[in-house]
Amino acid sequence: MGDRIDSLPSPSADAAALSERLAARVRAEISAHGGWLSFDRYMELVLYSPGLGYYSAGSVKLGSAGDFVTAPELSDLFGHVLAAEIGRRIATVEQPTILELGAGTGRLARSMLAAFDARDDVAPTYQILEPSGDLRQRQQQALAEYGDRVQWLEQLPGGGIDGVVVANEVVDALPAAVFVKRRDAVLPLGVRDDNGTFAWAEGPSDARLSEAVGALEQRLGAPLPDGYRSEIRLQLPAWIAGIASALNRGSVLAIDYGMTRHDYYRIERSGGTLMCHYRHRAHDDPFVYPGLQDLSAWVDFSACADAGTMAGLMIDGFTTQAQFLLHGGIVSALAGLDEPVRTTQANAIKRLMLPGEMGERFKLLAMSRGLECELPGRDFRDRL
Ligand SMILES: C[S@@+](CC[C@H](N)C(=O)[O-])C[C@H]1O[C@@H](n2cnc3c(N)ncnc32)[C@H](O)[C@@H]1O
Repeated sequence: MGDRIDSLPSPSADAAALSERLAARVRAEISAHGGWLSFDRYMELVLYSPGLGYYSAGSVKLGSAGDFVTAPELSDLFGHVLAAEIGRRIATVEQPTILELGAGTGRLARSMLAAFDARDDVAPTYQILEPSGDLRQRQQQALAEYGDRVQWLEQLPGGGIDGVVVANEVVDALPAAVFVKRRDAVLPLGVRDDNGTFAWAEGPSDARLSEAVGALEQRLGAPLPDGYRSEIRLQLPAWIAGIASALNRGSVLAIDYGMTRHDYYRIERSGGTLMCHYRHRAHDDPFVYPGLQDLSAWVDFSACADAGTMAGLMIDGFTTQAQFLLHGGIVSALAGLDEPVRTTQANAIKRLMLPGEMGERFKLLAMSRGLECELPGRDFRDRL
């Protein structure tokens, strides 16, 4: 899959030194754990170690000068359609709030705030919860013109909000455990230090992981075969329960590349979905340039929906990004633009909507409390 590792561009000397410091941290933790570290802990360290991890250090990350692009970076029309959907959801909510999780460069917030400014019926408060200090700083610069209307939170709001929680490409960045089936047993895959380089290694059986994979197999209706390898996010139910408890009335909209459980854990997909991005090259070796490349895994939307239901939310829509954008009015929004912007935006929305690009790989899951609202376009809820 993706590019060959040896064709990746070399990092600058400063970036390589930063990566080496992070690798030393990981090595120390491997050694403190008897020579093996679980993959989810490795992922947490390389993405979020303060000052060193991919999301915590100062690299560009998103956009054409970074490692990958996201939908809001490609076109403001993505944010405009999302704002229209949120507008419908908060139409009956008094003093609504939009809470964006993991706001990246702040581009989605800018697009959505501009869309709300263009209408005079609703002016939601905008809150951002961003664990990366580096990205938070960039968001504050990008959104400076909005003053107090945008607030950054340190944690989920204790008193809860009335409104909509948005998470675009956040779930894929949550650490995932990697497992392999060995006959009837489930073993965690993780990392060992192989004379200074990191390598995959099986670890000792872990009761929490075995139980989670057992529950997954029950839902799939059959055990996964010997040698099957994939990922599972053990902390996902608690993460979604936390978000649900911060929502008094309103919706959670999660957009990401992902699948239903049956598609995710197909027998043919026996190597999992881990993906690394370094300067717009995709590959599957998470041990290259620790801290300098993005690391993610696809989202199991059935697991998200189950966690939402367990936390008292109602699942009120599951659709593809293409369906959502098409029926949400992206084509008429495009028609309203003047040349040459229209042609540039038309190319961007092709990437957002074509099946071989982001159109079908990306899905939107809507979950609500105390609100009834359906997503535009075809609804695939019955597949979850
Ligand atoms: C792939 S980027 C997506 C950024 C942005 N939403 C976009 O679409 O351009 C992932 C974002 O999620 C943030 N993030 C990671 N873990 C998070 C968590 N537990 N809660 C909120 N945000 C998180 C990262 O810091 C980063 O801003």
